[in-house]
Amino acid sequence: MSDSGEFLYTRVAQEMALAIRSGDLGAGSRLPSLRALCGRYGISLSTALQAYRQLEGEGLVEARPKSGYFAAAAACEPACEPAMSRPSAAPGAITVTRLALDILREARRPGVLNLGAVAPGPELLPLRRLLREMGALTRRQPEIIGRYELPAGNPELRAQIARFLARAGCRCRPEEIIVTNGCMEAITLSLRAVARSGDTVAIESPTFYGILQCIEALGLKALELPTHPREGVDLDALQQALESQRIAAILLVPSFNNPLGSNMPLAHRRRLAQLVEEHGVPLIEDDIYGDLGFQTPRLPTVKSFDRSGNVLLCSSFSKTLAPGLRIGYALPGRYAERFEHLKLLGNMATAGLPQLTLANYLRHGGYERVVRQAARTYQQRSEQLRRLILEHFPDGTLVTQPQGGFVLWVELRPHVDGVQLHEAALRERIAVTPGVIFSPRGDYRHHIRISCGQADGTALADGVQRLGRLAHRQ
Ligand SMILES: Cc1ncc(COP(=O)(O)O)c(C=O)c1O
Repeated sequence: MSDSGEFLYTRVAQEMALAIRSGDLGAGSRLPSLRALCGRYGISLSTALQAYRQLEGEGLVEARPKSGYFAAAAACEPACEPAMSRPSAAPGAITVTRLALDILREARRPGVLNLGAVAPGPELLPLRRLLREMGALTRRQPEIIGRYELPAGNPELRAQIARFLARAGCRCRPEEIIVTNGCMEAITLSLRAVARSGDTVAIESPTFYGILQCIEALGLKALELPTHPREGVDLDALQQALESQRIAAILLVPSFNNPLGSNMPLAHRRRLAQLVEEHGVPLIEDDIYGDLGFQTPRLPTVKSFDRSGNVLLCSSFSKTLAPGLRIGYALPGRYAERFEHLKLLGNMATAGLPQLTLANYLRHGGYERVVRQAARTYQQRSEQLRRLILEHFPDGTLVTQPQGGFVLWVELRPHVDGVQLHEAALRERIAVTPGVIFSPRGDYRHHIRISCGQADGTALADGVQRLGRLAHRQ
């Protein structure tokens, strides 16, 4: 056993699996020999063999007689997945806000099966422990609600976040962190810190509608970039855009983006950090799903490769611990001062009680266990959901196969309209999100996003079966 209590071969296998799944070891490429693996990890021949056997069992590696081990083709060529997106090449204004608000309200109506919102399952969150921490604080430190916190946040929470960020490859001091009201405020303040009304922001396509609304509210224009369902944004297209027009900022969700679930490979993260540095353009990196990957260890954030301070990392505990606490944070690099000033102007500071509750929770430990359990559950649900969609929707329907998070992006047949399907589903008390709200101009008319954060087992199976029937009827 290794220090962490895991079998050594499992750790080696996990690392190799990550490299294969992320595309760093491409399909068909030759993998290190058993001896090379022993040398690299300081392990015995039998441990190396066990690691390769595990990878073979997972279908990630092929052993070829007399030739060695190779990354399996199937690992990188999934079936029934949508292709790279092809959005409009010109920046444009955003027009889908109203629909997005209605959809949020509808998903919350009592009795509706919620396959719409990207809300985590409450049973997977440590809610009781958080409330106990909060209860203890209100009894022992009632003065917490009798004072203002600093605009940048409570020092204890900032210290805990700095410690915690080391896991995502970010080495930073607590003073570099600014606590916000959720990730959404971190994104809004980041955009306000780096761009002015009329500027263009480069984004993934499709992209989370909260990001689109924020761009719209600030009078900015969105330049949508082609995005691959597994690997994320097309960096060649980004580079071309940076070389040919003025881009004020880039705003991406490199880890398990919403709605595609794509996870940018390690080599792309390095290249992105370099591009940002070369062009001096700020990158706002939304890492809200970064800890919900199905494989460990997680990939480092793009921020970890940032030497120029041009990357503004934004995240929150909304998907992992408690969306209702509304605690997010930013690591705004060289924009920290402006960011902090904007936070002060906006709402003075984030409330102290939820900040200290989280600081105590993080200090006492347990985060890792909670997110691993949640990620395992989401993996099972996503796989079940994908199977159900392919079984019950019309032939030719395409579905993403994410390696983290809890949403699937479904490309319907051309005769099936995502908005009509969403409306028909609501009449049957099922909420799904139509694809149109993930693009500034209402593209993705034949797409829907389905979330399995809050549904599983028979409820999920029954819901998808009924959705499939509705899609067939169109
Ligand atoms: C990609 C992404 N960023 C940000 C948010 C908002 O996060 P928060 O609830 O912490 O403000 C969401 C929520 O769905 C999201 O999917």
